[in-house]
Amino acid sequence: MNEKTLIKGKIHYVGVNDRQKHLFEGMWPLPLGVSYNSYLIDDDIVALVDTVDACYFEIFLHKIRTIIGQRPIQYLIINHMEPDHSGSISLIKHYYPDIVIVGNRQTFGMIDGYYGVTGERYEVKEGDFLDLGHHKLRFYLTPMVHWPETMMTLDETEGVLFSGDAFGCFGTLDGGFLDTRINTDRYWDEMIRYYSNIVGKYGNPVQKAMAKLDNLPITTVCSTHGPVWTADIPRVHDVYARLSRYEAQEGVVIVYGSMYGHTEQMAETIAAELSHEGIRNIVMHNVSKSHPSYILRDIFKYRGLIIGSPTYCNQIYPEVESLLDKILLREVKGRYLGLFGSFTWAGAAVKRMGEFAEKSKFELVGDSVEMKQSMTPLTFEQCEHLARQMAARLKKDRK
Ligand SMILES: Cc1cc2nc3c(=O)[nH]c(=O)nc-3n(C[C@H](O)[C@H](O)[C@H](O)COP(=O)(O)O)c2cc1C
Ligand SMILES: [Fe+2]
Ligand SMILES: [Fe+2]
Repeated sequence: MNEKTLIKGKIHYVGVNDRQKHLFEGMWPLPLGVSYNSYLIDDDIVALVDTVDACYFEIFLHKIRTIIGQRPIQYLIINHMEPDHSGSISLIKHYYPDIVIVGNRQTFGMIDGYYGVTGERYEVKEGDFLDLGHHKLRFYLTPMVHWPETMMTLDETEGVLFSGDAFGCFGTLDGGFLDTRINTDRYWDEMIRYYSNIVGKYGNPVQKAMAKLDNLPITTVCSTHGPVWTADIPRVHDVYARLSRYEAQEGVVIVYGSMYGHTEQMAETIAAELSHEGIRNIVMHNVSKSHPSYILRDIFKYRGLIIGSPTYCNQIYPEVESLLDKILLREVKGRYLGLFGSFTWAGAAVKRMGEFAEKSKFELVGDSVEMKQSMTPLTFEQCEHLARQMAARLKKDRK
């Protein structure tokens, strides 16, 4: 019966699916839900790697007991303290009072503050080791992927990496959890969305963590969200490597605000000309309709970014402004930026977006277009011209 939960050696999947939460971190939509993954190592010495959101504790405990019955768990390894994973620590401690919590110095500072649990602890440093019998665990500190206490645990016997949020994605695990036994199509875009929304700012720490893992014999990646990766590890590695370097493919995201449709006509004109110039990947987002979660995903995907805004009370249209803040927060790098906007009596949006261009250090491409009131043959030509300049900039990067 326990075969169904078995991953490799004596490691079992004991995570749960959340199909109830609408917004992750109160912000990011979950149309496909999300899983909180935890792993139980049923060895001579029993260890649990991370826990799950406290709402799912009963299901979690049942899964654990189905595997180990009434045997105690000796160690609880905490790779990450964000409450979607640490939320069940107090309850686990309640059911397994003698459990030894394994974490680093930063972990314990947070455990004290959040849960105030007492008892024996094993405070690990980089490279420390824990022998469970068959499985032999080594700990790697990977700060800021994506909190300061984050670490990864490698089982050196079977090459199983417990990676925390790294290599994770949105989407529940419907039936199976191993990549070789499920259709993984739906996870790839959700991986980019997860990375850009949640981890996005921490490209450098992700790079450093990946460098540490480079020469390790990893056969299986057990992240805290989404499938357990085996056959697809090279693809997952590639996605995270590219995203953490802010690498993007040829294409343009046109994102705009528009109250009465005039700025939108500028966007349409730009898009049509980009297509005419041979740019195949064009994604348009009306900020008032598309959730920023999806806009950020596409900005992480494509190198070109053209932003349009009406002037609103002498400012950038607030929904556009809020997106600009989200881009700056994530310190997105290396995009080609085009700007356009509109006004009725005194234009301000385009000028203010110029400040964003400076702050973001994006390469400003072409001549920004500012339209008074509605489209004229001149604005039409200016929008097409901007599109041609963007297309030319992108084509310069073609091999
Ligand atoms: C609440 C509000 C505030 C506005 N503030 C300004 C402004 O400060 N300066 C200006 O020139 N136009 C202002 N406008 C006019 C808009 O900029 C204009 O309607 C818009 O650029 C037209 O583009 P759209 O059809 O895409 O919405 C304002 C419009 C609204 C509804
Ligand atoms: Fe996290
Ligand atoms: Fe998480």
